[in-house]
Order: sequence, then C-alpha cells, then structure tokens
Amino acid sequence: MRELAKVELHLHLEGAANPALMRDMAKEKSIDISGAFTEQGMYRFEGFQSFLRTYEAVTSVLQTPADYARLTLDVLRNSAEQGVVYTELFLSPDFCGGRDVAAWREYVHAMQEAADQARRETGIQTRGIVTCIRHFDPMWSRETALCAAETKGDFITGFGMGGDETRGKPADFAYAFDLAREAELGLTAHAGEWGGAGMVRDTLRDLRVSRIGHGVQAIDDLALVDDLAEHEITLEVCPGSNVALGVYPAWHRHPISTLLERGVKVTVSTDDPPFFHTNLVSEYENLNRTFDWDADVFKTVNMNAVRAAFCDEDTRAQLTKDLESAYG
Ligand code: ADE
Ligand code: ZN
Repeated sequence: MRELAKVELHLHLEGAANPALMRDMAKEKSIDISGAFTEQGMYRFEGFQSFLRTYEAVTSVLQTPADYARLTLDVLRNSAEQGVVYTELFLSPDFCGGRDVAAWREYVHAMQEAADQARRETGIQTRGIVTCIRHFDPMWSRETALCAAETKGDFITGFGMGGDETRGKPADFAYAFDLAREAELGLTAHAGEWGGAGMVRDTLRDLRVSRIGHGVQAIDDLALVDDLAEHEITLEVCPGSNVALGVYPAWHRHPISTLLERGVKVTVSTDDPPFFHTNLVSEYENLNRTFDWDADVFKTVNMNAVRAAFCDEDTRAQLTKDLESAYG
C-alpha cells in the first residue's frame, strides 16, 4: 500500500502535526500545553468538541512564519513517505497572523518555501486551501476570504471552511465564498460530517462549492446521493477520522464504498492523521481489508482526486499521466 501513488485533498496542516514536534516546540517556547497530551504522548480528547479544543490548544504553540515553515516541511516529508505525490493543505489565517493580510503574506511565503523544499527532496507537490472556521465569527470569514484572494497564485489555489458544523449555517458564510469565487479560487466546505444530509444540500445551494469535506451523511438521502453523482460533486472522505470521532461506530458501517458504487466522485484523505492514530497507508489498508478495495479502486479514487484538485491544467495532465503509469 505504501508504494501506491496517492493524491490527498483534505489535510489540516495543524491537524497533521506530529505530537512529538509540537511537544518539542512547546518546550522550546516554555508554553505549557501538557493537558493536550496523553501519558503515551498522543493528543488527548474525547469526542468532536473536545477534539476542536485540543486542536486549538496545540495550535497556540505555532506563533511565527518560521514555526509554520518547520511544521509544513515535517508534514510534507511524512506525506511523501506515505506515497503521496500531490496534497492540498488547509491553512488558516485565523491562526497565522489573525487574518491580517500583510502578516498572512509572510506566513504564506514561509509555507510555500517549505513546500518547495519538500518538492526538491521528495517530489511531492502541494497546494494551499485558505480556510475559515465555522465556529468563529462569520464576519471573520470575510477577512479570511480576502487573505485568500490577496495571496492567490501558484501555491494558494482554494478557499474552504472547517470547524464546528453544528454551529451557524452555510448562508452565514456566503459573502466569503462569493468573494473567493470572484477571485477564481477552488471552493470546498465541510458538511455532512455532523450536520446530516440537509447540511450538504444547504452548503451546495448557498456556497456553490465543487467539493464537500466529508459529505458522508448524504448517504441518508439517496436522492441527494444521485444529485451528487449527477453533478459530479467530489467528496473528500476521511473514513478513519469518522470512525475515530464516532460519526460511524466501525469501519464496516462506513458508507464510503456504497457512495462510490452509487457513482459519487469519492476521494480518500486523512483529515488530522495523528489525532486519529492513522495515516494514508493505514486508511488504504483498512479500505482493502473492510471493502476489498484493490488497485483498480484505488486508481479510481485517486483519478477522482486529480480531477477535482485545485491545480492548473498542466499539473492535472501531468498527475493523470503519472497515475496512469503508476497503476497501469
Ligand atoms: N478541523 C480539523 N478537523 C476537522 C474536522 N474533522 N471537522 C471539522 N473541522 C475540522
Ligand atoms: Zn477536515
């Protein structure tokens, strides 16, 4: 599974942070975040709300563009070891300079340099999706979208939304998504992880995204599943995350295989891998064990990811060619 070429569309940069690195950085800065870790040195949380609190506590250690460069390089080296050839990272101006455009530019510059270094070392390609956070003030999402529009380029190619889907409604963020669409950024939003099939519908209607983060609860409305298939909406599915957070009680209860069989453009990602004791190789192994997915299915989901990637057409053509030769 490690050797299979992989394309990952849904990875939160801070959520991908190795806990040992974050503990080291906290120690270097004399910041006490010991409550965020278990005795075994893994991240401590119980359930989704507690996960979000731990995530933000850990993120408080990251305070400068240099910190973010260090994290980015570590995360991308790790992704490359999993066989990832192209990845998209969710990046949050809320954590990088408090949505100030000038400060955000410095963070972007630092992260792009780290991504360039990772590419030279391993060949991995990276794009950044600027992400607003749903449980923060919706007015902040407008500033976040402005950060995205002002830094759109070779590296920043998308705009998205993560955070607590049980709060607010998609329409509260329509202004931000309109601004990002006007800037010709690719659009994605988390929905249907916690908010049910209705939230997927509302998100598509109000934010007009081409991709949905998770979207798995669409399975409870088969007419919606047909709509997703017909309109070729891509789902960024993170099964290990869903099982770890209790969206589904076990792998065999996860709808990923059914969604794929019903014609939905399914892709596979890890979300926040060390939080959920997973990595992309482990996700593939679980998909193989649980649903008997073989190289043909993995080729399909990776081709789906290339098709939906927020990259230029030359890169898309090259990735398509690379996957064709990798999978045969
Ligand atoms: N931010 C990081 N991981 C997330 C998840 N699984 N859902 C919503 N927001 C997130
Ligand atoms: Zn996510």
